[in-house]
Amino acid sequence: MTRKITGKVTWVGKVDWELKRFHGDEFSTHRGSTYNAYLIRDRKTVLIDTVWKPYEQEFVDSLKKVMDLREIDYIVINHGEIDHSGALVALMKEIPDTPIYCTANAVKSLKGHYHKDWNFVEVKTGDTLDIGESKLIFVEARMLHWPDSMFTYMTGENILFSNDAFGQHYATEELFNDRVDTDELYYEAMKYYANILTPFSRFVRNKIHELLDMKLPVDIICTSHGVIWRDNPLQIVNKYLEWANDYQENQITVIYDTMWNGTRKMAEAIAEGIKDADNGIVVKQFNAAKHDKNDIITQVFKSKAILVGSPTINRGIAFSIAGLLEMMKGLGFTNKKGAAFGAYGWSGESTKIITSKLNEAGFSVVNDGIRAMWYPDDRALNECREFGRRFVKEL
Ligand code: FEO
Repeated sequence: MTRKITGKVTWVGKVDWELKRFHGDEFSTHRGSTYNAYLIRDRKTVLIDTVWKPYEQEFVDSLKKVMDLREIDYIVINHGEIDHSGALVALMKEIPDTPIYCTANAVKSLKGHYHKDWNFVEVKTGDTLDIGESKLIFVEARMLHWPDSMFTYMTGENILFSNDAFGQHYATEELFNDRVDTDELYYEAMKYYANILTPFSRFVRNKIHELLDMKLPVDIICTSHGVIWRDNPLQIVNKYLEWANDYQENQITVIYDTMWNGTRKMAEAIAEGIKDADNGIVVKQFNAAKHDKNDIITQVFKSKAILVGSPTINRGIAFSIAGLLEMMKGLGFTNKKGAAFGAYGWSGESTKIITSKLNEAGFSVVNDGIRAMWYPDDRALNECREFGRRFVKEL
């Protein structure tokens, strides 16, 4: 299926309603995703990106229905990850000599994935390609989110092909941002940023300022996942600037795992204490073993502080909490505070371990945490409530 975007640009991607997991099992995609590829027809014909490998033949067959593949003069690959370059092997079998425009790092990632010596043309920021009335301007976007990432800007139509940046894992047949549910769209855009782009916030800020300084008019942002931003496209650029700048809302998230509900009771009492101290703070609680890890990470992204709890098990912490703390360390959240809690029976190491891992993950830990022995009684729960009240004052 192909869809017209402007007189010269057509969407030729794939909507994947079935996708529930991305990057192996690292990213949940409850609303599926899309792999957006674009065909530009000016005096020259240009294909921008392809689709994920399982759909490579479908992609090539679908293109063949609307054109002779030999009409493609240039291929632009903005990023070598296989959700966008995955159809190249099938495509290049048909048009083996077609030049592939990409960054020097993308030559490495594409050769690393496919082990082919295609006709690569390396481009850098500011390089241009005349395609007729319009011109393509390339802008390297290193670490947004791979070293090979690049934006391509099309003059005349004023389109920024931004690849992963500004995208969302969001399957829709509607194609454009003004045609979908805004809450769903922004939740998926934030989840994408929180789980994928957080470590690269400094690069995001710098690249956006560099783009704005180039003063290129942007009428449409064609992402590689989810919707195309045509209605006020700069709204997502401005949102990215907010998100890239130590983002937080007036929220505290309480994350725990529990074996016999002792740590859960502590979590609930701490949450009561927080609300008691300041009812304006949004408090959310998640059992990490029962909730989706990427949705929890999205809530951490929104939070000014988190409380992380685990019972002590085998002198350590629960599997789900260890996994989440490892994710947070990799993502490198900034400007967030935290503390630990947990129930225990005898050795009781969990709060110390969590405190240490929160520190390692870059959280500013405001106290030594709170422990409760065996199943917390009324006195222990009152202490947890007081701990919650104190935590608010310590922020
Ligand atoms: Fe959508 Fe980085 O690939």
